[in-house]
Amino acid sequence: MQDTILRAEDLQAEFDTTDGVVKAVNHVSFGLPRGGTLAITGESGSGKSSVALAIMGLLPYPGRVTGGSIHFGDRDLLTLSGEELRTVRGREVAIVFQDPSTGLNPVLSVGDQVEEIIRAHQTVSRREAKAMSVEVLGQLGLPDPEEIVRRHPFQLSGGMAQRVMIAIATALNPSVLILDEPTSALDVTVQAAILEDMARLQERHGTSIVLISHDLGVVAQMADSVAVMYAGRIAEYADAETLFRSPRHPYTASLLASRPRPDQESRGRLAAIKGTPPSLIDLPDECAFLPRCHKATSECRSESVPELLSAGGDAHVAACYNLMYSEDEGTAARRSA
Ligand SMILES: Nc1ncnc2c1ncn2[C@@H]1O[C@H](COP(=O)(O)OP(=O)(O)OP(=O)(O)O)[C@@H](O)[C@H]1O
Ligand SMILES: [Mg+2]
Repeated sequence: MQDTILRAEDLQAEFDTTDGVVKAVNHVSFGLPRGGTLAITGESGSGKSSVALAIMGLLPYPGRVTGGSIHFGDRDLLTLSGEELRTVRGREVAIVFQDPSTGLNPVLSVGDQVEEIIRAHQTVSRREAKAMSVEVLGQLGLPDPEEIVRRHPFQLSGGMAQRVMIAIATALNPSVLILDEPTSALDVTVQAAILEDMARLQERHGTSIVLISHDLGVVAQMADSVAVMYAGRIAEYADAETLFRSPRHPYTASLLASRPRPDQESRGRLAAIKGTPPSLIDLPDECAFLPRCHKATSECRSESVPELLSAGGDAHVAACYNLMYSEDEGTAARRSA
């Protein structure tokens, strides 16, 4: 059996707002293989960041986890005390947030911020901590790290700021690193360089990565397996090669079709998915993708929300009734165990 370092089981999280309860994460389960990269993708608002924040115990008010478990080794992170969780966080499981501008403290130098995390978790002298920060920044491809540690966040470019964030997250060599849209705000060359740094880091330390990205190019480049989220649920889950080659959920197929392809004539005229995702406050009783689905049948309309069904291959599942009712590709789909 594959060694899974982090496992979410039936995770549910919501935000209790004045407009109603936003069901941001609905019955999400996945496993992160040790040393591997799991990508979570899907449109804006599908619940990707909420999953990441729930794992870290950092869902902001009025958000809360309402069900499920998140096992890191044999510990359920959801049952740890605040103190225990703080020890895990940063040291064993670390996150790089979506927006670099919110992640750095504007009044502290870069060096102070990297040293702070090191000294919070390890008994080292200031001098040792300083040397360690210069080393992690250097490892992340920042030129002249001795000079960078003296800078303040406003003196950094977007790419540099994001690398500093990654340095803070990886300073203690966490076994799990969660990257929430780590390169979305950056131009493509900086993005490529940072992704290469991540791949090197993973190779060197065997880091297991949860990569959240709506960019399917990034997902294809980095991920071993992919979870596609729609309206707070996993719509499809497969190893990356299978997902890109033979998606079985119409939503995944639409996402892939709407992907910019530099090799194709249709640049600039993408098959954007028609319609919008449902409100997470008022989720329908049937498949949430139904109004946008070009493959919907009468069965879909009379059924409740579809469960994840086996899509034939090994560990390939999709939440779509087409897998049960259609005979395409000759696969008689079974309910997954
Ligand atoms: N602090 C909050 N208060 C209320 N609702 C929230 C809050 N944060 C997120 N939500 C809602 O939870 C749902 C999921 O949001 P989330 O940020 O997890 O999506 P996402 O997939 O990360 O989107 P994006 O790609 O834009 O980052 C959305 O409907 C969002 O509006
Ligand atoms: Mg997000």
